[in-house]
Amino acid sequence: DPVPIPDLTKCVIPPTGLPNNITPFSCCPPISSNLKIIDFEFPTFKKLRVRRAAHLNDSISIDNFAKYDKALNLMKALPDDDPRSFVQQAKVHCAYCVGGYTQKGYPNTELQVHFSWLFLPFHRWYLYFYERILGSLINDPTFAIPFWNWDAPDGMTAPSIFTDPNSSLFDPKRNPKHVPPKNTFSNYRDTIVDLNYNKDFDVPGTINPRPEVRINENLTWMYKQMICHAKTYRQFLGSRYRGGEEPLQNNCAGSIESLHNHHHVWVGDRRQPNGEDMGHFYSSGRDPLFYAHHANVDRMWSVWQTLRGKRKDCTENDWLESSFLFYDENKNLVKVKVKDSVDDRKLGYVYQNLDIPWINHKP
Ligand code: C2O
Repeated sequence: DPVPIPDLTKCVIPPTGLPNNITPFSCCPPISSNLKIIDFEFPTFKKLRVRRAAHLNDSISIDNFAKYDKALNLMKALPDDDPRSFVQQAKVHCAYCVGGYTQKGYPNTELQVHFSWLFLPFHRWYLYFYERILGSLINDPTFAIPFWNWDAPDGMTAPSIFTDPNSSLFDPKRNPKHVPPKNTFSNYRDTIVDLNYNKDFDVPGTINPRPEVRINENLTWMYKQMICHAKTYRQFLGSRYRGGEEPLQNNCAGSIESLHNHHHVWVGDRRQPNGEDMGHFYSSGRDPLFYAHHANVDRMWSVWQTLRGKRKDCTENDWLESSFLFYDENKNLVKVKVKDSVDDRKLGYVYQNLDIPWINHKP
């Protein structure tokens, strides 16, 4: 069976997977007494929204970042119980990822959107609504979120628009060695992302390789996860996970999901008890970098669809008919299906067309 929507009326407080070294809290969305759920309809639009690389600083990009800063300030200013607020956006991830929900119709079965073929579609929908809400707050239907272009050499450090402490895009809970706030010192080589990062090996005194060495390792790793380890949808999307089934484990994740996990931990602040914000599912949605990171993960799905061979999206009903719930820009609760997420253009956006530097980095 397809994975059903969560049962909002039985949202678990606190979620079962919350770390026990923090004060427990609720990740449940606000719900009104008449729980009205509407079915998703494709948006109508005159022009596709274009998601652009976050490190670029041409005039269109600068303009777009100013819009993002403004929109996010407005989103952060909404009351905490408004489903469009930034607090609630972060809770969406918490509820779906650390045991906040059970599957509707299976009251004892946890709903989990990681470690399986739900990972890419769930996060695509999540960004879709996040972006639409931001656009509506500034009355600009063309607004598109930027992506962190970490698969290209120029994008391998945190984009500077996210590191200015005066910007709404800033979050103080990040590893200061990897993502230093603007104008604070860190060794350049430490600021280049390690797409295969393992914090257990990063002990005090560890010296990172020279930038060109790290960049090459990253490009090779991209090639592996996008091409060698992603020959079929099974390898790329992750394992099957169906309605009524218990969540899977980490080793069931698809090739790009595992790569993306390393990146989360690399950004997270090791001075915090659980690597908050980016280093734990319950808190990662609190860092605006999350949405830029995930936009690139989402972009990798669109890129993968253009690669050759047996790389075709899944056609299994249990995947296509799986569904999620999100609040939209009008505070309506919308039921969406995986099948409506497979084509980004139908959702009204595309990614800026850039060279894919790892395509020639066969290991
Ligand atoms: Cu839901 Cu990057 O994780």
